[in-house]
Amino acid sequence: MLPITLFLGFFQAAGLAKSDRLLAAKAFDSASSLLSRAESVVVFTGAGMSKESGIPTFRDALEGLWENFCPEDLATPEAFERDPQRVRDFYEYRREFVRKAKPNAGHLAIAAMESIFPEVIVVTQNVDCLHEAAGSTNVIGLHGEILSNCCNRGCPGTQPGSMTTCPTCGSDSLRPNVVWFGEPLDPILMKRARICVSCASALLVVGTSGAVYPAAGLVDIAVEKGIPFIEINPNKSPFSDHAKLFIPSTAAVALPEIVSRVGREIEALE
Ligand code: OAD
Ligand code: ZN
Repeated sequence: MLPITLFLGFFQAAGLAKSDRLLAAKAFDSASSLLSRAESVVVFTGAGMSKESGIPTFRDALEGLWENFCPEDLATPEAFERDPQRVRDFYEYRREFVRKAKPNAGHLAIAAMESIFPEVIVVTQNVDCLHEAAGSTNVIGLHGEILSNCCNRGCPGTQPGSMTTCPTCGSDSLRPNVVWFGEPLDPILMKRARICVSCASALLVVGTSGAVYPAAGLVDIAVEKGIPFIEINPNKSPFSDHAKLFIPSTAAVALPEIVSRVGREIEALE
């Protein structure tokens, strides 16, 4: 199947030429027709989803976190063992962005999908909990939650991000409650995510570079099973050529446009 890839240029809401606005509207219409037939939709999101909420991505040129910091020094179990304070300081720096952030129009549009589709599942690589803050009720967070801490020795439960001493084992080994490079993802969450994607009638992929596995493998499942997916990303990713529709726009611009069109389309059918 050939992808309907719309090379619209980098269109944003404001300041578009009339011809670009028409092309953008056409892309949103195509996305809406594709989605309005779907019974269950999985939305798979990455850091680009929260960029318009003021949270930096990892790999965007110049401003991405991993363009300016070395992940091996800050986001691995070895880094924490070597220099826990350095790791904690880095996460405190990142937490500041998250504490100030509010869900953007894209998060809100995804939450609103729950009143349109019989089933909507959000699978996110993000650790900012902005999908939940926007009102999404079915969120699988593959990479943890940045604002809490957990025990590096494996004691159960989460603790406030400000605590460093584990209340269970008493060691000074509380760490950010996120998955680091070299660590496995929660196998149950990953299994649930795989099943949800396998059973979905459509997948919406928003703001991920597809660089990190196993999460990125969820899109490979859709490709293998022929589940149609729409990608929203201002830049192409390794997935883009397999997408039924690649929309070169941002989360906060494209999602509200698409979701309001789906709503209208479904209403007209009823
Ligand atoms: P990346 O930083 O790798 O990719 C962000 C993607 O978002 C890029 O493809 C951008 O083009 C796109 N993007 C930028 N602005 C956007 C916008 N406003 N709307 C939509 N898309 C936009 O982030 P992830 O793919 O999420 O891992 O990275 C995957 C994982 O790598 C993260 O979960 C994190 C990181 O190391 C852990 O924390 C374990
Ligand atoms: Zn402990």
